[in-house]
Amino acid sequence: MKRKSKYNVAVVGAGVVGIEMLRCLRSRNFPVQELRVLARSAREIHVDGIAYQVQAISPESFEGIDIALFAGTEGEKGAAVTFAPEAVKRGAVVIDNGADFRMDPDVPLVVPEVNARDIKKHKGIIANPNCSTVQMVVALWPIYKKVGLKRVIVTTLQASSGAGKSAVEQLKEELVAISEGGYNNLHVKTSNRSMPQQLGFNVFPQIGGFAENDFTSEEWKLVKETHKIMHNAKIKISATTVRVPVRTGHSEAVYIETSKPIESAHVRALLAQSAGIIVQDDPQTNAYPMPKDVEGKGEVFVGRIRKDPFVKNGMWLWIVADNLLKGAALNAVQIAEELIQ
Ligand SMILES: NC(=O)c1ccc[n+]([C@@H]2O[C@H](COP(=O)([O-])OP(=O)(O)OC[C@H]3O[C@@H](n4cnc5c(N)ncnc54)[C@H](OP(=O)(O)O)[C@@H]3O)[C@@H](O)[C@H]2O)c1
Repeated sequence: MKRKSKYNVAVVGAGVVGIEMLRCLRSRNFPVQELRVLARSAREIHVDGIAYQVQAISPESFEGIDIALFAGTEGEKGAAVTFAPEAVKRGAVVIDNGADFRMDPDVPLVVPEVNARDIKKHKGIIANPNCSTVQMVVALWPIYKKVGLKRVIVTTLQASSGAGKSAVEQLKEELVAISEGGYNNLHVKTSNRSMPQQLGFNVFPQIGGFAENDFTSEEWKLVKETHKIMHNAKIKISATTVRVPVRTGHSEAVYIETSKPIESAHVRALLAQSAGIIVQDDPQTNAYPMPKDVEGKGEVFVGRIRKDPFVKNGMWLWIVADNLLKGAALNAVQIAEELIQ
């Protein structure tokens, strides 16, 4: 990308991720000349007391844009399939948060702490991985580099905001309806049903649709995206993805088998000195990461690091991060920062 002192930036989508992108651009002092916020419909939105004029998206919206951060929904009706090529045609570099281009061999899939070098290979589009993948690879990469990884078994506990603004609304409405009913009936049906099941006072093991071998699409994203980012498709990865009634902050119970032995104290020290990671791991004081504490923070938090007593080189980690920040908006803005360096 041609070096400039300031860049014309478009943010596509004013949902939960788009709003965090606006916050990240400001809080990180990204050198913005002109900012265009684009969505399906025009309106004024307010974020932290600042008014943004949202414009209705069209191909011409990308005239003169240097960097386009996409956080519109995915698929045929979403923003990226239609408008990312239009933005690229007009000279912008697209950083897309959705799944539409992630597995395209011409599109780098980037987590800067892991594979920032892949950014250079872009042909106009760079993809941001799925939120649950981002936090897992940030935590596993230093271990992988040190002692290798043979196997990963992960169960995710994913917050409602991971499914967008309407899912947050659904959870809120369900919690209100249950409490207004005096907690006598835990089964409620609110008008907002953007998730496949009730989430209030519930958890359900389905994120995305069911796909190959009865795994869900979200479970396959964890496998395929991790292989692509780490440039190693031999790591055996298996996932169960679960939606939990948390507002923001995904947690992951991750079991790994390393290629060479490593002690938990060594892993703690290794992660504590790695970029973008905070270790919170003190069983004596009940210290471990939790979603309510990581909401609004940009790092990946790791705790409960412990060796499997039965399996050689087996180890557990508990990994928590803000899915809207490191899992989406912040990672995208970090990619943009690498791009302009
Ligand atoms: N939430 C997360 O934790 C997370 C993490 C990683 C990646 N992602 C991905 O990030 C993207 C955005 O997710 P989100 O959670 O922010 O969704 P969201 O809260 O549902 O917001 C979606 C936004 O996209 C806009 N939009 C939808 N279709 C559009 C189109 N055809 N043209 C222009 N704008 C369009 C909507 O416009 P209107 O407001 O005008 O309706 C809305 O502002 C998705 O691809 C998602 O998979 C999300």
